[in-house]
Amino acid sequence: MKNTVIVIFGASGDLTARKLVPAFFNNFRKGRLPANTNIVGIARSPFTDDSFREKMREGMQQFASKDFNAEKWRQFAPALFYQPGDMTKPEAYLGLEEKIASIAPEGGNRLYYLSTAPEFYATGATLLGESGMSQESENTGFRRIIIEKPFGRDLASAMELNRTVHRSFREHQVYRIDHYLGKETVQNILVFRFANAIFEPLWNRNYIDHVQITVSETVGVGHRAGYYDKAGVLRDMFQNHILQLLTLIAMEPPHKYEADALRNKKVEVLSALRPIGEKEVAEYTVRAQYEGYMHEPGVEQFSATPTYAALKLFVDNWRWQGVPFYLRSGKFLPDKTSEITIQFRQPPQQLFHFNGEHDGSFTNRLSICVQPHEGFHLLFTTKVPDKGMQVQPVDMDFHYQESFGEGAIPEAYERLLLDALNGDASLFTRSDEIELAWKLVDCIHAGWASKFAPPMASYKPNTWGPKAAEVLLARDDKHWVHGCGSQKE
Ligand SMILES: NC(=O)c1ccc[n+]([C@@H]2O[C@H](COP(=O)([O-])OP(=O)(O)OC[C@H]3O[C@@H](n4cnc5c(N)ncnc54)[C@H](OP(=O)(O)O)[C@@H]3O)[C@@H](O)[C@H]2O)c1
Repeated sequence: MKNTVIVIFGASGDLTARKLVPAFFNNFRKGRLPANTNIVGIARSPFTDDSFREKMREGMQQFASKDFNAEKWRQFAPALFYQPGDMTKPEAYLGLEEKIASIAPEGGNRLYYLSTAPEFYATGATLLGESGMSQESENTGFRRIIIEKPFGRDLASAMELNRTVHRSFREHQVYRIDHYLGKETVQNILVFRFANAIFEPLWNRNYIDHVQITVSETVGVGHRAGYYDKAGVLRDMFQNHILQLLTLIAMEPPHKYEADALRNKKVEVLSALRPIGEKEVAEYTVRAQYEGYMHEPGVEQFSATPTYAALKLFVDNWRWQGVPFYLRSGKFLPDKTSEITIQFRQPPQQLFHFNGEHDGSFTNRLSICVQPHEGFHLLFTTKVPDKGMQVQPVDMDFHYQESFGEGAIPEAYERLLLDALNGDASLFTRSDEIELAWKLVDCIHAGWASKFAPPMASYKPNTWGPKAAEVLLARDDKHWVHGCGSQKE
């Protein structure tokens, strides 16, 4: 079997210690890492191989202690190496090449991982190309590159980055990662939709009233204020995670489970998203800041960066015409959750009386809980025993933890890193997907910068956002739901 060398740029950083090395270790522990795989970390900090191994071991114990196994680590650690170098300097790549040659003199496959700040992505890809390290052939083995998010900060910069990366790597070599897609529940959306025959006939405008997607965080900006204040909630959450969830819910079935077949269908959804023009931006979007945001250290005085947004989108195609997709995300909300709710239409006629508070509207709904309690909830109406023909909604649920046991859900990076090693790009974002997502975000930002912008609303920390977000749905006689069971209203 060919050697495989994984090169992590930014190896002294947080992501490497917290997620990447634990994910490689877990794959090794489970016997899934290909034989003869070595990992070389590169950054400017002056580690040796041994001190890097020690730092990674400490990281494992700190961030992934439940997976730590001293004996397995003893077997794994010799595959970790470190090469100090400044990735903006061509000589760093000569040093790296020498290091790789000393580890795997007979050559082999290479997987490069850009786990650095985004401003280094273009330089890294360019210098890998210029040093000949991106060229692949039958003899050399594959050359692949994983690029962390965020990929660009708007359409123009994402296109520019794509062009730069493509000068060194062909598209099939490029793996743009959004770890959300590595989550079991996100992948399970595909299985749920396309491995079951009973839901797909209902999955359209004839039976679905609307869709809601909520991705909420309980924390404020904290130490990320410097980054966040320049990015805002649309770049941080919508452009990547939330639009990815929307595409999986709205896409047509691919003809097979294969990267391009799948991504073509996702691209169709993104292409069909109705753009929000300047004059519509106040009708279809809400933006808000939590109280006190402007006093957070690192946030600009009078910052106009939203920490919360709610959108109403339409997918203009045969399946979804007229079905609103309501999306919301924010910081400092009462619960940390990512959930999708498919709200089915009401029965054409209500024959029975509802028990208690429920008015009988919109009983049938399916909620997909992406995190934290990964699973599904299905709400339907049943008869209340011994109360004549009174009825009430009941909730039927499935949770991974209960069905498959605690610890059944692996870290998203485990799956994604293995897929990249195996050449399966299904769960990575293609260049056209990224660009279409930015296009939508750009047109909302343009609307928010125009004279038609909705006012910047304000909300108290630990509430579910501004009143304007409630009004966005109330105008359509709907309201936000917590289908995955949050009680924290
Ligand atoms: N942390 C997370 O949980 C997380 C989650 C999702 C995505 N991401 C993304 O992953 C990327 C890395 O995040 P992170 O949190 O690990 O960042 P970080 O802790 O700031 O690490 C950045 C790394 O880049 C290295 N670096 C900086 N300048 C360099 C240069 N000129 N040459 C070589 N190395 C250089 C730094 O090491 P030296 O100073 O030693 O050179 C450090 O190892 C970011 O793009 C982030 O958006 C992170």
